[in-house]
Amino acid sequence: MSIISDDNEFQTNVHEVKAKKNPVTKPEKIECDRNFENCIRPKSFDSYIGQSALKDTLKITIEAAKKREQPLDHLLFYGPPGLGKTTLAGVIAQEMGVDLKITSAPALERPRDIIGILMSLKGNEILFIDEIHRLNKVAEEILYSAMEDFYLDMTTGKSQTVKTLRVPLPKFTLIGATTKAGELSGPLRDRFGIIHRLEFYTEKELAQVITRTAGILNIEIDEKGANAIARRSRGTPRIANRLVKRVSDYAIVKNNGKINEDIANTALDILKIDEFGLDTTDRSLLRLIIEKYDGGPVGIETIAAAIGEDVRTLEDVCEPYLLQSGLLQRTPRGRKVSPAAYRHLNYHTLKQNSNQQTLF
Ligand SMILES: Nc1ncnc2c1ncn2[C@@H]1O[C@H](COP(=O)(O)OP(=O)(O)OP(=O)(O)O)[C@@H](O)[C@H]1O
Ligand SMILES: [Mg+2]
Repeated sequence: MSIISDDNEFQTNVHEVKAKKNPVTKPEKIECDRNFENCIRPKSFDSYIGQSALKDTLKITIEAAKKREQPLDHLLFYGPPGLGKTTLAGVIAQEMGVDLKITSAPALERPRDIIGILMSLKGNEILFIDEIHRLNKVAEEILYSAMEDFYLDMTTGKSQTVKTLRVPLPKFTLIGATTKAGELSGPLRDRFGIIHRLEFYTEKELAQVITRTAGILNIEIDEKGANAIARRSRGTPRIANRLVKRVSDYAIVKNNGKINEDIANTALDILKIDEFGLDTTDRSLLRLIIEKYDGGPVGIETIAAAIGEDVRTLEDVCEPYLLQSGLLQRTPRGRKVSPAAYRHLNYHTLKQNSNQQTLF
């Protein structure tokens, strides 16, 4: 499989990296450090941990497409950042034995951007569009006929001399990824054959991700150490991988590079990541609602302005896990914290109508 992408994310694979050995300078490790993301990204269903329902569906779909000698149906993956949408597109291309072109909606601003990319596709190729909810109307309309009939409808000339051209395209598969499925237009959503939400990972699955990553990066970690990091990884492999690196730095300085439960917990405490995996921004958000707005509800714009974060970061990065873990609730009048958030942050009292009432 050759993969063409703006950031060359998939171009080197782990086996190639491992093959470049030199006992003196250990270049394979340096290479892996530089291409951290690329090095640890699973390339096949076997190394892609979790999401078992989705993987089972995809395996069948891929086998059927291969038997029919047809490209796969268009696929849409949605879910919070870092759960493996882009990685899965790479795995699918690998399993189908076809090329993958990666782009993202903000890069397809002008009609010629999307037309150019569609016209450059070869038969059966996969086109991956990240952040597909951010496609503009024109690009979206161009995609409709491309996805449905594998045609590009183009107009040439001006006013009275205007002509419509139908340019045939090779059959291709579009994989769209978004953190905001709700912002996708109905007609675009309906053109995807498979729509699937990626779920947060369990602690057990994250411990497997951590052990796998540690193995690739030659980091020594025991089972309890992996579990300790998994517990604070917010159900997200990208965070788990990031924390393994940070904890490994601490272990190199304090424990000959070995990660055990104690080392993991101490390093994560120093990083100010608590037992729920919350970081300082998450805690500021919850504290603000508790202390300044009596637990809410309060609008997201007000929260963003008060803690100096951007609304999109709060909505896309902080909120999904806070909502999923039941610490935050979304109501029509704004965000509210739950009793669990009070307990977690050690607030034993809640102000109500100026009277201090002990609730918990
Ligand atoms: N199922 C998995 N098994 C092992 N590692 C995974 C898995 N899913 C994701 N990862 C790791 O997590 C990292 C983030 O995954 P990826 O970039 O695919 O997430 P994403 O959903 O595309 O995020 P975003 O919405 O920010 O684009 C990858 O580097 C990959 O190594
Ligand atoms: Mg991605």
